[in-house]
Amino acid sequence: MATERERELLNQVLDSGQWGGFHEMVARFERAFAEFHHCTGGVSAANGTVTLEMALEAAGVGPGDEVIVPAISFISTASAVSRVGASPVFVDIEELSFNMDAARAAAAVTPRTKAILAVHFGGPLADMERLPALARDCGLALIEDAAHAHGSEWNGRRAGSFGLAGSFSFQNSKVMTAGEGGILIGNDSEFLDRAWSIANCGRRRDGGWFHHYTPGSNYRITAWQAAVLLAQLERLPEQIALRTRNAELLKSELADLAELRFQQAPPQVTAHSHYLLLGRVGGNRDEFHKALAARGVPCTPFYPHALYGNPMYAAGGCRVEPCPVAEACVRDAFWLPCRALMGDEQTTRQIAAAIRQALGR
Ligand SMILES: Cc1ncc(COP(=O)(O)O)c(C=O)c1O
Repeated sequence: MATERERELLNQVLDSGQWGGFHEMVARFERAFAEFHHCTGGVSAANGTVTLEMALEAAGVGPGDEVIVPAISFISTASAVSRVGASPVFVDIEELSFNMDAARAAAAVTPRTKAILAVHFGGPLADMERLPALARDCGLALIEDAAHAHGSEWNGRRAGSFGLAGSFSFQNSKVMTAGEGGILIGNDSEFLDRAWSIANCGRRRDGGWFHHYTPGSNYRITAWQAAVLLAQLERLPEQIALRTRNAELLKSELADLAELRFQQAPPQVTAHSHYLLLGRVGGNRDEFHKALAARGVPCTPFYPHALYGNPMYAAGGCRVEPCPVAEACVRDAFWLPCRALMGDEQTTRQIAAAIRQALGR
């Protein structure tokens, strides 16, 4: 829900008389978001799909290269790799964290591997000890797809700051949203300059308006989006605290149900955005989903297939490592959206009761 702060910042943009992507509000938001996530700079863009494409292109990934991605994510994680002409290599996720299995990622590295694209699925960070170490040891770029992980931490360090770049989405369902939007953050100013150029018609930051050095595009956000996002960034910690409290309460209310296993973040995850409340359920997941929906609880019965099951990969253009955990999750996992964790204690207890009833308990 919008607050007075969103209105105040939106009015500042309105009154300023120019509303485009070069507005000071956009620069202000980029600085604030990057700093909050322990990075020196950020390049905002139209969505979290193009920020992934920008990251890969600015990292020099292209035809003939392979990029290791988890088998479970939204399509953009894989399609961004395909769109820059490289091949995604799908590796399995871990049983409890739902995140890329670092051992399986290590086993998938070949001389063609150029990057690891790790997703922080649902909010908790993927293994930010072993994956950065693997990237370092093998000379690979580590890019974090942090579309779900605004404000999430690993040992106190925030998402997006562990590798070459972190990519975030501000699409409608996300924990910070301007309806659409995205940002790429990092600590390598030359890399960020290349990304900026891609998003700004191939210009250079220090070059003229009609001087274009590479075939870039226009991915800029408007000052309206930046104003709304700046307001939301200010209250992100408070909202994470609320969702964390509610998630703990909900899980403790259901702790006696052996057939229900919620996502487990490793102890190094010191903050978790709680974009999704993920779980796996014994018995018939689809019946459970229907019963939950009938009780008015928003729930998604996971993805219908692993990423490599999408028609676009039926003809190849990718490599698929064995993914037994991903396949099992397609059959038995589910998620509740972050809005289910934004209510008060009573609402949270009611959701827990509905889950219990949906399981016939
Ligand atoms: C993991 C992940 N990466 C990337 C994206 C793409 O973000 P956007 O919808 O802003 O293009 C999404 C979107 O939902 C996502 O879930």
